[in-house]
Amino acid sequence: MELIDKCAVVAGASQGIGAEIARLFAKAGAAVILLARRKNPLEEVADSIRANGGAAQVYPMDVSVAGEWRELSAWMRQRGLACDVLVNNAYWRRLVPIGELTDEDWRQTMDVSLGSYFLGTREMIPFMLERGGGSIINISSLQSHTPEPNFGAYAVAKGGVDVLSKVIARDYAPSIRANTLVAGAVDTPGFAEGEEVKRELGRRLPAGRIGYASEIAETALFLASSRSSFVTGTEIIVDGGRSIT
Ligand SMILES: NC(=O)c1ccc[n+]([C@@H]2O[C@H](COP(=O)([O-])OP(=O)(O)OC[C@H]3O[C@@H](n4cnc5c(N)ncnc54)[C@H](OP(=O)(O)O)[C@@H]3O)[C@@H](O)[C@H]2O)c1
Repeated sequence: MELIDKCAVVAGASQGIGAEIARLFAKAGAAVILLARRKNPLEEVADSIRANGGAAQVYPMDVSVAGEWRELSAWMRQRGLACDVLVNNAYWRRLVPIGELTDEDWRQTMDVSLGSYFLGTREMIPFMLERGGGSIINISSLQSHTPEPNFGAYAVAKGGVDVLSKVIARDYAPSIRANTLVAGAVDTPGFAEGEEVKRELGRRLPAGRIGYASEIAETALFLASSRSSFVTGTEIIVDGGRSIT
């Protein structure tokens, strides 16, 4: 129970990696607050957590909107809720060559895939400082290291995420640790590929398959807990070995 007596806020928790992180954190003893736009899938994840004896609350919101973070803070304060761990994980992207992105594509990618990470960080830092510190985990992608064609704005946003973790780690050391969890291909609803494509992709990886969201969650748990107390301002790559191919 590495997160006993801890409170964790997970952005993008209605499905995929965020949902698995919320489930695992709750299993480790944390009270989790789940954020995403769609209420019903959020409730389903929260119900599954409660069914296993965990503590979960949902707060439907668009994490790219500053005012909605302020409302979340007020809602948390009214209920006396804390935040020891923040996971920034929501994203938006459109896969076309960079020259074909519209102004709106660019803006939305930056607002959700990078801006929401800043907004969440800014809003949750006071909660963490009140409890003596915390851990911020920013979910990034190998696209920021080795971009493939058409991942343009998303890869740029993820590059910003990688630096954001270092900036937070410098500004709020030693009380708040901040790290980037760099994911490779992971089987989630957002990874909208057919089974054959997933198998083919997996065959090219040293691991022989693409990842499970639960495997990303395990590393997030390490970064959230005191087991990683000497780890800050860095990246952990969880990619089945893709970066060495
Ligand atoms: N899957 C992969 O292969 C892979 C690889 C590398 C990195 N990653 C990274 O891992 C993270 C999670 O990916 P995933 O594959 O689990 O994605 P996913 O299955 O598409 O889930 C994305 C989550 O983000 C939420 N979300 C999106 N926009 C939002 C917004 N504006 N406000 C609030 N919530 C929002 C979605 O909920 P609602 O729709 O309900 O809002 C959903 O819960 C992302 O940062 C992604 O870049 C994934």
